[in-house]
Amino acid sequence: MSQDTIESILQEKRLFQPPAEFSQKAHIKSLEEYQALYDKAKADPEAFWAKLADRELDWFQKWDTVLDWQPPFAKWFVNGKINISYNCLDRHLTTWRKNKAALIWEGEPGDSRTLTYAQLHREVCQMANVIKQLGVQKGDRVGIYMPMIPEAAIAMLACARIGAVHSVVFGGFSAEALHDRLNDGKAKLLITADGGFRKDTAVGLKTQVDKALANNAVPTVANVLVVERTKQKIHMEPGRDHWWHDLQKGVSANCPAEPMDSEDMLFILYTSGSTGKPKGVVHTTGGYNLYTHMTTKWIFDLQDTDVYWCTADVGWITGHSYIVYGPLSNGATTLMYEGAPRNSNPGCFWDVIEKYGVTVFYTAPTAIRTFMKMGEHFPKARDLSSLRLLGTVGEPINPEAWMWYYRIIGNSNCPIVDTWWQTETGGIMITALPGAIPTKPGSATLPFPGIVVDVVDQDGEPVTNESGGYLVVKHPWPGMMRTLYNDPERFRRTYWEYLRPKNGEFVYFAGDGAHKDKDGYFWVMGRVDDVINVAGHRLGTMEVESALVSHPAVAEAAVVGKPDEIKGEEIVAFVTLENTQQPSDELAKELKQHVVKEIGAIARPGEIRFTEALPKTRSGKIMRRLLRSLAAGQEVTGDTSTLEDRAVLDKLRGGA
Ligand code: PRX
Repeated sequence: MSQDTIESILQEKRLFQPPAEFSQKAHIKSLEEYQALYDKAKADPEAFWAKLADRELDWFQKWDTVLDWQPPFAKWFVNGKINISYNCLDRHLTTWRKNKAALIWEGEPGDSRTLTYAQLHREVCQMANVIKQLGVQKGDRVGIYMPMIPEAAIAMLACARIGAVHSVVFGGFSAEALHDRLNDGKAKLLITADGGFRKDTAVGLKTQVDKALANNAVPTVANVLVVERTKQKIHMEPGRDHWWHDLQKGVSANCPAEPMDSEDMLFILYTSGSTGKPKGVVHTTGGYNLYTHMTTKWIFDLQDTDVYWCTADVGWITGHSYIVYGPLSNGATTLMYEGAPRNSNPGCFWDVIEKYGVTVFYTAPTAIRTFMKMGEHFPKARDLSSLRLLGTVGEPINPEAWMWYYRIIGNSNCPIVDTWWQTETGGIMITALPGAIPTKPGSATLPFPGIVVDVVDQDGEPVTNESGGYLVVKHPWPGMMRTLYNDPERFRRTYWEYLRPKNGEFVYFAGDGAHKDKDGYFWVMGRVDDVINVAGHRLGTMEVESALVSHPAVAEAAVVGKPDEIKGEEIVAFVTLENTQQPSDELAKELKQHVVKEIGAIARPGEIRFTEALPKTRSGKIMRRLLRSLAAGQEVTGDTSTLEDRAVLDKLRGGA
């Protein structure tokens, strides 16, 4: 982000107070109430979380220690016994919520389904029994590779119910990406579907599964459970593949939830880091249940009449925490949508809001910018008056998009919660509480009660107000990742030893740069590591580079992000070719397709730039800073004295 942008952001004068009517009915009603809650939590975090855990969740057995902190490894609610599927389902069945809509599903093309808490419970129990029959036991890993259909949530809850660890792989990932993730987690079972609908077309998922598992490439996967969605013709491998609708027939709907230890693993979710290999982020049961429950309740201010819609995919952490676990634990009505913004249906989101009377709407800046470009007449032609609260997540939101969201979608009377968090944090960390905290367009505002965040310099020391630095979290929190699957050392190194203040304290480094303004508001600027955020999707530059160099024509590749009006960032790949190869448009196309095959469509480079050499330091490090400027069409400024061969830069400029 340029200095100009930072300055203009920090001079943002617009302040939006929560509407009085909203505050009166909100869970947290005023800035004073937030402040008191925040101070209390900061003074005694363990007492704060313990009180909430006791009040808000059902435990089979109480914990004996709230927090066991052996930096950087934390255990929350030690020896407590709990089941998140029980908290999301069973406990609501003894209340009036039994027949309340738990899950509303709006599918494509025009399909829909609503499951009450009783119905969802029934389906989850049946699937849990089926996966038990397929040999899955407590602690086993189960891959879930699904489109956005209710069975995706049912599969997650079924795993949680019997203590199996789910590892959801986004349905847009390729066979290769699926294969790697299943192998890393040594999954025993894979739950998938024949296909799913993506932007008006039925795409195959089972065909990808067949490729991923071909020639026994994932030896641990003994069974594949297939949900019928698109009715495409697919191959069913005898002995391995089973239709869900066949096995569901006649299976018991009685499956008591397994009492899990608070620290038993709930799920693994892979996310990109600054190396080629995605990291398996591990979340456990009790702390995650509490953290997603509380953040959902206070940030989305859930009331019993709400229809809550988060537009994420269950393949990402936002889908885990804020489509499935957080809302259901609160007994809310959560909406799941199979479609996505697209030119062929420019009003699709607004139609869903109108159809179901959505009251709380949570989406990503990239979607907002897409709709902004399509024009305000689409939302204006729908009745969006049911909305009372808006949220955003995934990347910094530019003030212009914020204002459009506020005026056009929120009719200037819905608070906006800009929520900063990550796969690793489990839940939202910095956000407005909508009835309490005044908002500024572009700022995620203040930390959630119980969360201590700061902006520090390279030595881990707090920076003076307003000058930028690294965003860190200073105290463990219940929803935090516990480790990286099979790699505790990488967990320690990447997150907790990157910045070490003089006092020896352990601080969690998020990988983001941020500023804190004079009111203590946080402005998250984006990643400071080699991670790019494309349309709210996190991709490691090394991951894309590895995909490129696995193509026989490529000698070397360097990938950077370039600012993009809609997607936030777009991938630009600088590529040097093997001697025998010549640059051509066809080859550029082929390389883009190769990345799609290796990772998935979300990683398709927007641009491939062929070059004879890459700018490197004398020690051989690629100077990405220079490439970023070149990709953005900016003048290369700053120090270039460490560049090994200045002619490379001149050539790249010439070719740019
Ligand atoms: O750079 C930050 C950005 O998304 C990253 C986390 O990506 P992921 O683990 O995929 O989770 C995305 C959904 C939680 C962060 O390191 N990010 C997320 N939300 C915001 C954000 N950047 C600025 N403002 C946000 N509200």
